[in-house]
Amino acid sequence: MSRLATQRVANGRRAHIVGWGMAVPERVLNNHDLSTMVDTSDEWIRQRTGIVERHIVGDGETTFSLALRAAQSALEVANLDPAQLDLVVVATVTPEYYFPATACLLQDALGAEHAAAFDLSAGCSGFVYALSVAADLIAAGGYKHCLVVGAETLSRITDWTDRNTCVLFGDGAGAVILEANGAPGGILSSVLGADGSGKDLLIVPAGGSAQPANAETVQARQHTVQMDGRQVFRFATRIMPEASRRVLSRAGLTVQDISLVIPHQANDRILQAAARSLGIEEERMYSNLSRYGNTSSASIPIALCEAIERGLVKRDAVLLLTGFGAGLTWAATVLRWSLPLPVPVPPRRMTFWRNLRYRWVQLRSRWRQFWRQVDSRLFQILYDREGRRKR
Ligand code: ACO
Repeated sequence: MSRLATQRVANGRRAHIVGWGMAVPERVLNNHDLSTMVDTSDEWIRQRTGIVERHIVGDGETTFSLALRAAQSALEVANLDPAQLDLVVVATVTPEYYFPATACLLQDALGAEHAAAFDLSAGCSGFVYALSVAADLIAAGGYKHCLVVGAETLSRITDWTDRNTCVLFGDGAGAVILEANGAPGGILSSVLGADGSGKDLLIVPAGGSAQPANAETVQARQHTVQMDGRQVFRFATRIMPEASRRVLSRAGLTVQDISLVIPHQANDRILQAAARSLGIEEERMYSNLSRYGNTSSASIPIALCEAIERGLVKRDAVLLLTGFGAGLTWAATVLRWSLPLPVPVPPRRMTFWRNLRYRWVQLRSRWRQFWRQVDSRLFQILYDREGRRKR
């Protein structure tokens, strides 16, 4: 059910975070707004969850557009040309399409022409799963730079008439760049786990092969999140401390060594219970739930970005990232931030050239799409169905 991994190291290569970025939609929906939509109140939501407001996508904003903004910021901070990326992984439960993967759209839009790309679905644990997979690939020696993104538009699969769930979720994206580096530290170890017997506790029942979309599934709101909140709550308060202890022990560290915990942001009461169980003060447990709600696999990278930008992550800090989610899944990673923190704001000149490059990449992608159509048309004119040249 659970896997323990100490990031193996080939040729002394370790995965270090060298860039980070986040993006949230501009539109904010607060608890008062929600109380006009369903039978709830600001007081109930604050007391039971700690959430005050959340960001919700508007027209034209999608999981991909949020992921792109976060990824571009992370590349800026890392001062990395997208062509140097070897891998793009997007953790999401709200992808742009069933297929192609949102990671492929991102790879194209960034001009990451040498990168492999895939999506990863592990509920709210998705970002930590993706981080662990990318870190393992780096440590194994094959990859130098990986872009790892957690991006979600949960508002698109929320039942806005269900007060049990609609008060919880928000939209957003966070991204990091992992770099292979010989310096000690970086990602030290990970714990990934799953228990599929809890599949019904958090589920979007229809739209997959079990129940393809039809008029009835739409009418029954089966394309939206269904959740047994109490059971998920109990699972979360047990598994977060358990996974945290195991990952720390694997890295040869103790709770006292942790500078900051960056937990999945689902409910402040879950964070408090985890802090109590771990015996860690709440100040060392980062929370931004009040402003974003639960953004699923985006919540940990968003919290990480904020913590760095607020100066809470110093050189040699030990960070514990831990999450749980649909599946059921859980994941924890511990890392030592041993590299100097890059200066987050790049010179304007560089930003200008990067933006110009993204425009060029966009044009090149459109040209490729156009040329594919011309090529297909020419093929039809010049060749028969068996691929023989027409006379
Ligand atoms: N406003 C007012 N009352 C509400 C609301 C609301 N928004 N939601 C539920 N209630 C009511 C319930 O109907 C219930 O009323 P009843 O006693 O008359 O039946 C009462 O409040 C208590 O309900 P509980 O479910 O016991 O409330 P609880 O304190 O457990 O809080 C919550 C509910 C916030 C959902 C909590 O259980 C929780 O946070 N669970 C974990 C959720 C989570 O982390 N999900 C991860 C999803 S991420 C992913 O993978 C997509």
